[in-house]
Amino acid sequence: MNNKKKKILIVDDDTSHRVMIKANMIEKDYEIFEAENGAEAIELVEKDFFDLIIMDIKMKKVDGITALKKIKEISPSIPVMIMTAYSSVQTAVEALKLGAAEYFVKPLDMETVCHSVERTFNYLMLQKENKTLKEQLHKNFEISSIIGKSIAMLKVFEVLALSAPSDATILILGESGTGKELIASAIYQNSNRKEKPFIKINCAALPENLLESELFGHEKGAFTGAVAKREGRFELANSGTLFLDEIGDMTLATQAKVLRVLQEGEFERLGGEKTVKVDVRIIAATNKDLEAEVKEGNFRKDLFFRLSVVPITIPALRERMQDIPLLAEFFLSKYAEKNNRIIRGFTPAALDKLMRYDWPGNVRELENVIERSAIMSFDQLIKPETLPDFTNAATAAVIEREPVLQPGRSIKDVEKELILKTLESTNNNITRAAELLGISRRTLHNKINEYKIEM
Ligand SMILES: Nc1ncnc2c1ncn2[C@@H]1O[C@H](COP(=O)(O)OP(=O)(O)OP(=O)(O)O)[C@@H](O)[C@H]1O
Ligand SMILES: [Mg+2]
Repeated sequence: MNNKKKKILIVDDDTSHRVMIKANMIEKDYEIFEAENGAEAIELVEKDFFDLIIMDIKMKKVDGITALKKIKEISPSIPVMIMTAYSSVQTAVEALKLGAAEYFVKPLDMETVCHSVERTFNYLMLQKENKTLKEQLHKNFEISSIIGKSIAMLKVFEVLALSAPSDATILILGESGTGKELIASAIYQNSNRKEKPFIKINCAALPENLLESELFGHEKGAFTGAVAKREGRFELANSGTLFLDEIGDMTLATQAKVLRVLQEGEFERLGGEKTVKVDVRIIAATNKDLEAEVKEGNFRKDLFFRLSVVPITIPALRERMQDIPLLAEFFLSKYAEKNNRIIRGFTPAALDKLMRYDWPGNVRELENVIERSAIMSFDQLIKPETLPDFTNAATAAVIEREPVLQPGRSIKDVEKELILKTLESTNNNITRAAELLGISRRTLHNKINEYKIEM
């Protein structure tokens, strides 16, 4: 894209002056267009896209200031450089206020002009790169900064390591706050496309028409307010990766268009007829139960199959309680440092309190709780009093959600499973597990031996 010749429009009613600028510019390998007055310039800007405009102020048919106003309305991001024979501070200020990028006094020093043009292009390129960079969440992120040692998370890492380097479409499922976005970033960072753009869009944040214009871009005049042509996220992500977040919230009409890009790699911009071809790797995420959405007719079955080439389900935090202490320590050191506090860790009672809660908001909720505690605590260790009053107990929630009791199973079998689950949820804390199970530590030890449970 950057190898394309930059298109510069020169607007001046003095032909010889235009020729002089053109001669200097062509040497720099720019593509030059000319207009004789403001009216002609406006007409050209309405029809075509220019990377930069150099314009005289004093012209007979529509002067430079009027043209500048109009051009900024049509295409606000085009840099316009103004030149005039009269060094009047007032006009200069007016032009700059109207959004002129630069102001030159005639006779022009072409070296200064060329330098300024080049600097502007460099700046714009940096700005564009920066924008993409900002969208690359956790830029220098590695898989090692995803915390988790539970079996459930180890399985997630395994699938991630296998699928990230391929170009396969990945569907990340999981409740809100489980780390879907973090996993999406990790896939990108570990992919073959890590040097290419990583573009993100939240499909739940925008109404249908705006979402489509964001995804596919639009031609000038496609709808009221579409004053200039715009590339969509699919185009920006070309050769790279597009993260479609909250895909379960996309309307059926938009789903059909996305399906076409996935199948054919092509689409049309809104209000346009030209077919645009792209090569984009898709990572999608949702906290909805997509299969249920398919059954209810809210989500296209074909799109669901297309997306779930590699499905990754991130378990809820209450299903991997072993990760709680680890995550809590991780967030504590992060936020203690950020707030200049010296906090070494948690008292056992505080950790216990964290483990008993069932975290409906998952890791995000845990992170918020720890951040708040790090700010509020002036002790070396976080105490239970510093933590919020959680009302629902984790264990009760776990047992309710996953009934181990099903006809056809032996009592021994169920007992073993309950012990296993309780141990897992207490991070192998025998005292705590025995307490929850309502038996002595000694009895628990005996049962662990009897069932040959490995810890
Ligand atoms: N395993 C983890 N290790 C470290 N931080 C994590 C982990 N999982 C989640 N986080 C952190 O928790 C917060 C929420 O994660 P993220 O935004 O990725 O969740 P999400 O599943 O996309 O949530 P939502 O569905 O609400 O969009 C983030 O600040 C993220 O960095
Ligand atoms: Mg998210």
